[in-house]
Amino acid sequence: MGTQSHAPVEQADANAGWSSRLAFILAAAGSAVGLGNVWKFPYITGENGGGAFVLVYLVCIAVIGLPILAAEIMLGRRGKANPVQVFVKLGEEEQISTNWQGIGWMGLLCSFFILSFYSVVAGWALVYLWHSISGQFSLQPSDATGLAERIGGLFDSLLANPGLLLAGHTLVMMATIFIVARGIRGGVEKAVRIMVPGLLLIIFGLVVYAAASTGEFGNAVSFMFNPDFSKLTWNAVLIALGHAFFTLSVGMCAMMAYGSFLDRSVNIGKAAFAIAGLDTLIALMAGLAIFPIVFAHQLTPGEGPGLVFVTLPIAFTEVPGGTFVSIFFFLFLAMAALTSSISMLEPLVEYMEYRCNWSRPRTAIVTGTIIWVLGIGCALAFNLWSGFTPFGKNLFDLFDWLTQSILLPMGGMLISIYAGWILSRKAIAREMEGGTAITFSVWIFLMRFIAPLAIALVLVNSLFPGLFS
Ligand code: PHE
Repeated sequence: MGTQSHAPVEQADANAGWSSRLAFILAAAGSAVGLGNVWKFPYITGENGGGAFVLVYLVCIAVIGLPILAAEIMLGRRGKANPVQVFVKLGEEEQISTNWQGIGWMGLLCSFFILSFYSVVAGWALVYLWHSISGQFSLQPSDATGLAERIGGLFDSLLANPGLLLAGHTLVMMATIFIVARGIRGGVEKAVRIMVPGLLLIIFGLVVYAAASTGEFGNAVSFMFNPDFSKLTWNAVLIALGHAFFTLSVGMCAMMAYGSFLDRSVNIGKAAFAIAGLDTLIALMAGLAIFPIVFAHQLTPGEGPGLVFVTLPIAFTEVPGGTFVSIFFFLFLAMAALTSSISMLEPLVEYMEYRCNWSRPRTAIVTGTIIWVLGIGCALAFNLWSGFTPFGKNLFDLFDWLTQSILLPMGGMLISIYAGWILSRKAIAREMEGGTAITFSVWIFLMRFIAPLAIALVLVNSLFPGLFS
């Protein structure tokens, strides 16, 4: 398959896939590192008491997220096709039911919903980048009476402003479509080669800044790494596990789509390890950049979703060089979101290209536009359409809940069952070669027993909230 203009994609062609192992790892890490790491992880850590939650999160990543990540990449590379065809082809080759293609369908559905609200939040990052550049996060004369009110007001007025929300959402979708339309090598790879190292550099700089200038670094470290198990609830454990999926981008076939372009010679276990490692490193560094600044200004870490859009900007306003720090921070957030949003569009484009026999640019524009329209609903959920609450939630919350609490865990569970129980060991072993016999057995054990059981608990908790609290 050529990456710029395509004939129908009967089969993803490795020759036109990633130009190197590093390119794949950067793209997959770019997918994993996103709003989940920088926006969500710090605030759920703050809300759930810090250290003990972080520890549980790390265990969930290692024991459940990482093995499923490897399984997704493995399935993608084994099938060398879009997420639906992977299961059709494997079914035919291995004489198992092709109904498992339902996993691919669920993944595609999930991509639609996730990207539609993700892009709205990514748009907030752009608006905040603009606020930073225009000096909103430097002290102003009016701040003498109410800094917190002014900064809090910025966020409230953003949510109340449909035009601004739609502008952010539209820019993010345009950038996402532009990159994906150019193909794996010409688009995705070029974007991540610049942005992912950029992300690492900026977050490293922010942590050094927080360590050097706030005097609260030690407190932040002990908040994040000193587990106080009395603060841990069952609900927090399940939140940690649910988040492990979201942050590693597993459960919706995004990693499968990226894996379908991966060369046979790459060791999947090692690659998955590198991806999950980078993702975890950046989440922890985001915490170490944010909490010292928050603590230094006697703000609370448990502020919820407003942590990076309200609490942190209040702190930026008061720290030396805050305007610069805020520019880098929101640039970081916007780039992290973009390297994730392209991976959400990719599986859909891969499928539609195959299905409709369209060129890649046309496919990217059509599918991206449909998601853009869906995203309008998510943006308006904060203002004009806030009264529209099917199932008791506005559209934004509904899509968020449906994907993160239901579809992603369900996708992860089915993928682990498929890899652990349905596919023959022989079929898998060929793809997973390169690892030791012990790691392979541990991996199969986790896929067969631990992952499905743990995920079942998350699902029950999502469907019957409060059961475990
Ligand atoms: N992993 C991304 C994040 O942490 C979100 C994502 C989910 C990306 C699913 C792709 C697929 O923000």
